[in-house]
Amino acid sequence: MATPSFSVAGQHVLISGGSGGIGSAFARAFVAHGATVTVTDVQPLPTGLAALGVKFEHLDVTSNAAVEALAARIKTLNVLIHCAGKLIRWEEHKPDVFRDIIDIHLVGNVRLAAAFRLHLKASRGCMINIASMYSYFGAPQIPAYASAKTAIVGLTRSLALAYSEDGIRVNAIAPGWIATAISRGGREDPVFNDKLMQRLPNKRWADPEELAGTAVFLASPASALINGVTIPVDGGYTAA
Ligand SMILES: NC(=O)c1ccc[n+]([C@@H]2O[C@H](COP(=O)([O-])OP(=O)(O)OC[C@H]3O[C@@H](n4cnc5c(N)ncnc54)[C@H](O)[C@@H]3O)[C@@H](O)[C@H]2O)c1
Repeated sequence: MATPSFSVAGQHVLISGGSGGIGSAFARAFVAHGATVTVTDVQPLPTGLAALGVKFEHLDVTSNAAVEALAARIKTLNVLIHCAGKLIRWEEHKPDVFRDIIDIHLVGNVRLAAAFRLHLKASRGCMINIASMYSYFGAPQIPAYASAKTAIVGLTRSLALAYSEDGIRVNAIAPGWIATAISRGGREDPVFNDKLMQRLPNKRWADPEELAGTAVFLASPASALINGVTIPVDGGYTAA
């Protein structure tokens, strides 16, 4: 058997929520490894990504019509990554807020998967979903976020089984503690932060770039046998 290839050169990667910290780090990493990247978000493309050749499409992942319209415009796709996300500390106990958060993280993931399944079937491509440490632990301050992230693990398994007949792999990354906009509330809460640092073996918030190697690997032929799993990339948090 040939030596495994880690190359993603020539692949087209679509990243929802790609204007955010993790999505834009993924975009830079995929471009650096020879892929073409389309970022979608409700916020504009961050400075510097356009100069790398990253394309941008405005997309609210809670809109069926917008997701379907984008899928109709995009001709080929190899890798679909759902990075769009939001949390609202202490507000998610309200049913309407709860539903809105689930809609972005979980239903948004399903919307994108359904809309791009045929593209990924044609390319024998893959999906990378984004889970969380809250896929494994409860979060009293963000119950909708934790519910969605727990469900992403089951969705990843289920879509991996359903889509395997099309040659599509579906995996997830469960990031640990990454310094981006979404985690600012936790980082700036001294009680939360102290408790976290007591347990976290590497004792620091990580850069989003530290997740990108796993994303590139999951999109590469070297990971062809990996399907339906959620990989923690967490500085040892789940081991502690
Ligand atoms: N930062 C962390 O510590 C951490 C840990 C675990 C999981 N995650 C997950 O990683 C993913 C990326 O988060 P991040 O850390 O880059 O946060 P971020 O806040 O920097 O990025 C999130 C992006 O999602 C976009 N977004 C929000 N609602 C949207 C919508 N309706 N449609 C389209 N885009 C929308 C935002 O505009 C933003 O650009 C999220 O799913 C998040 O839950 C983050």
